[in-house]
Amino acid sequence: MKEQLAKIRAEALAAFQAARDASELDALRVQYLGKKGELTGVLKMMGKLSAEERPAMGQLANEVRAALEQAIEVTSQKLSEAALVQQLKDEALDVTIPGTQVKMGHKHPMYIALDEIKDIFIGMGFTVLDGPEVELAEYNFDRLNAEEGHPSRDWSDTFYFDEDSRVMLRSQTSPMQVRAMDSMELPIRIVAPGRVYRKDEVDATHSPMFHQVEGMVIDKGVTMADLKGTLNTVVEQLYGKGTKTRFRPHHFPFTEPSCEMDVQCHKCGGVGCPTCKGEGWIELLGAGMIHPKVLQMAGIDTEIYSGWAFGIGLERTAMRRFKIADLRLIFENDIRFLEQF
Ligand code: DAH
Repeated sequence: MKEQLAKIRAEALAAFQAARDASELDALRVQYLGKKGELTGVLKMMGKLSAEERPAMGQLANEVRAALEQAIEVTSQKLSEAALVQQLKDEALDVTIPGTQVKMGHKHPMYIALDEIKDIFIGMGFTVLDGPEVELAEYNFDRLNAEEGHPSRDWSDTFYFDEDSRVMLRSQTSPMQVRAMDSMELPIRIVAPGRVYRKDEVDATHSPMFHQVEGMVIDKGVTMADLKGTLNTVVEQLYGKGTKTRFRPHHFPFTEPSCEMDVQCHKCGGVGCPTCKGEGWIELLGAGMIHPKVLQMAGIDTEIYSGWAFGIGLERTAMRRFKIADLRLIFENDIRFLEQF
């Protein structure tokens, strides 16, 4: 029995040494130490030994078991380290292999137009402001002199959050005028681009969400001549030197006088064509001298200060700049469309 144990020990240790991976080693563990394993088989025969022989043999058997278990432990450690080394080798990155090209996105045509507009105004000393799209009626209407009952406050036009019509998705960027008056020192020169919302059905020229760029100047002695001069300069930079504009009287509650500004059609030069619907002119923005009431509600002394403001529809500007015929294309974000600009 002694020889048998020695043989098992020698064989097993050699076999463990030769194991190539964890599963082979596990199979060997079962083969030698498992319930039906070789060592277990020998131990079962212990009963047949005499009482004198049994303790010594028992001890030897335990030693062999311990030796095998330890050998398995050591080998298993060695194998898992080797496996890790191999894995690191297999998964090593070859940094010299040319990479796969990542498809770059493309600046949206509307933001190309917006950045042009921003650059022009920044060049003239304007500050760019950002403001909330969820707005209070106080800023969107009250303090812009659009009283209760004004048609633009109607539920059919505006997305309200509450029954009292006090909280809403802003319907214009003009509340940024009031926010600027409240938070900035005079004189003020700002542009405030952003999203606005109205209950409009989607079609080629309408969307319930669109963008405006608000502009405002408040200083001493500011007149309508400054408004026209500034906007003419902007238009020439956007559409080229010599581009003509025309100002038509209009009405907005927060400006007095109010106007709309048209740009001569870039396509036909003013003769009339499908692009300008035969008019020769294309409407670009609403503007006017800030209503004294609006200035006074912000605590500005109208004896000393005056101001003008305007609001541009950004989609329309981009559509004209890039000759886009349908507003929906701007929001669908089809890569094939966006890549053209
Ligand atoms: N908020 C106006 C609109 O959405 C546009 C506008 C008109 C803005 C005149 C102005 C302005 O600042 O002075 O139709």
